[in-house]
This record gives sequence, C-alpha cells and structure tokens, in this order.
Amino acid sequence: MDFVLNGEIQDIPDEWAEESLLNLLRDHFGLVGAKYGCGAGICGACTVIVDGVATRSCITLAESIEGAEVRSIEGLATGGALHPVQQAWLDLAVPQCGYCQAGQIMSAVALLNEIPSPSEADIDAAMDGNLCRCGTYGRIRAAIRHAAIQRAVGAT
Ligand code: FES
Ligand code: FES
Repeated sequence: MDFVLNGEIQDIPDEWAEESLLNLLRDHFGLVGAKYGCGAGICGACTVIVDGVATRSCITLAESIEGAEVRSIEGLATGGALHPVQQAWLDLAVPQCGYCQAGQIMSAVALLNEIPSPSEADIDAAMDGNLCRCGTYGRIRAAIRHAAIQRAVGAT
C-alpha cells in the first residue's frame, strides 16, 4: 500500500499495514517527533495530520491511511524555515519537558489551517484533547494567537 508522507509517496510492505500509524512513523521511518503517551487516543502526544485533520496516530491503523496525505512534525518546516506555528512556539518559549509538544503543535497547525483567526472557543475545541503534564496551556494558547497574528500580518 502507499500513502504520502511529508510530501513524498511511500510504498510500504503489507506486513506493516496492521501496525499503528504511530509505530509505522517511529519504527519504520525513524520519525520520532510524535510520542507514545496513553496509547488510547486520550492524551494527544501522538498527533499527526492526516488529510488535513489532527489525528491520533496511536489508534490509527496504518492500513487506514492508504492513499492519504500524512504530515508529521518533521515535515512542517520548508526550505530551512520553521513553520509559523513552530516559530511561535520558539518565540514564546512554550515547551517545558517537551514530551507533549509535537502533538500540541500539530493540533495547532490543523486548527490554523482550518480557521486562520480562531476564537477562544475554537482554540478550546481544537486543543481540548492535547494534555500537558507540565501545564504549559497558557503559553500554548498565547503561541496559537501569536502565530495567527503573525500570519495575518504576513510576518512569517
Ligand atoms: S498516545 Fe495517542 S492519544 Fe495518547
Ligand atoms: S511540556 Fe511536558 S508534558 Fe507538555
């Protein structure tokens, strides 16, 4: 089966198809940004974007992404430039331990792709399932607003 991973077509052996998308990315492609947290779709640490939608890769079977476009955090930067959301995370020094942050960023990217100027309620709805044991929620929200403003004024 094949799918598109970070802009490149990948053809994977059938025996990998019954693994989770998270294992596929980490074990077979060496993309370890997405993390294993709960393994049950609850914490958001494993979030990647599938066909534009923030997706819990730990509960997504690899076979279900046949023909889909998958983006992991490793595929966000382009031409050596960070994605505006990554830059906002750096500007506001969001991470603490960092474990949840790839998932947080991917959920934020999916949100801003769908709603370029999200309301507080939009941010609540999009980020609700991404947990952070270090409690960086305030900085995450600020960084989402920052990225939205930066993109609106064309600063990134
Ligand atoms: S590891 Fe996938 S949602 Fe927690
Ligand atoms: S930064 Fe530590 S879990 Fe979120």
